[in-house]
Amino acid sequence: MALNKLNDHWSSEAYTSAASFVPKLTATILSHLSPSPTDHILDIGCGDGLLTAQLKSLVPSGTVLGLDASASMITTAQNKYGNLAGLSFATHDCTRLSSSAEFIAKKGSWDKVFSNAALHWILRNPVTRSNVFRDVYAALRPGGSFVFEMGGSGNVAEVHTALVGALIVHGVPFKEAREASPWFFPSETWMRKALVDAGFEVETVESEYRPTKLTERKEDGTGGLEGWVKLMGAAYLDKVPAERRDSVVGWVVSVLESVVKREEDGTWWIGYVRLRAVARKN
Ligand SMILES: C[S@@+](CC[C@H](N)C(=O)[O-])C[C@H]1O[C@@H](n2cnc3c(N)ncnc32)[C@H](O)[C@@H]1O
Repeated sequence: MALNKLNDHWSSEAYTSAASFVPKLTATILSHLSPSPTDHILDIGCGDGLLTAQLKSLVPSGTVLGLDASASMITTAQNKYGNLAGLSFATHDCTRLSSSAEFIAKKGSWDKVFSNAALHWILRNPVTRSNVFRDVYAALRPGGSFVFEMGGSGNVAEVHTALVGALIVHGVPFKEAREASPWFFPSETWMRKALVDAGFEVETVESEYRPTKLTERKEDGTGGLEGWVKLMGAAYLDKVPAERRDSVVGWVVSVLESVVKREEDGTWWIGYVRLRAVARKN
């Protein structure tokens, strides 16, 4: 099951322009993965496949499957990396992993389930959260590990706050503006409990405040904070009529300029908080 076209805000071009750093700032989480050459790895929320292809290079005799809800992202991944042996991609909503044919075929045999920068979307809906942990647990072989990085408590708090404020200024009722967030950024305490409740033995749960330099804004409105807000904050923008969305983006960028733009060189930085975990199925 995929996102329908109306809900699929993702585009690999916009992702590369606005957030090309996401699949690259991954040295720490990849060091936690400690892959063996024969590992079979499931990458959930794999995006445009850049990092998934890197995973494949770490397991030359193994296989890697990338799943993502965005048909646009999976098309790009397949076009760029689909011809690499042992690497495959499928469009699938990972809040419902147990209905994936690929998942069912290899249930209980994956060595690792990996995810980068996707679980704060996948875990957004409280109703399906525990299913995700249960299904990842079921996917793994005994001794296998769930290794992931995602937004943690306080992630991009300044942008989050500005987006809610922008909606209220543009006439969206307070409660609706607060609930428009497409993200769930849990604390270490929340995550440890969720993993234990699903049956995992937790090896590591850690978080890191990691201010991150944004890409440069381009003339066509992609890249920079503007491009980031349009792509990552699309669910907020959906709350106002199409003709008012540029105004919301402009408001967010104006409010944040004095907060996140550095005096010395004009670069823009936002406060990413990364939550990382390694959890084992015994
Ligand atoms: C910031 S991107 C990260 C992509 C990739 N892991 C990387 O590191 O570059 C987040 C991805 O999560 C995917 N995503 C969001 N909700 C999802 C869901 N319910 N199921 C599967 N993928 C989802 C999006 O389509 C997007 O490709």
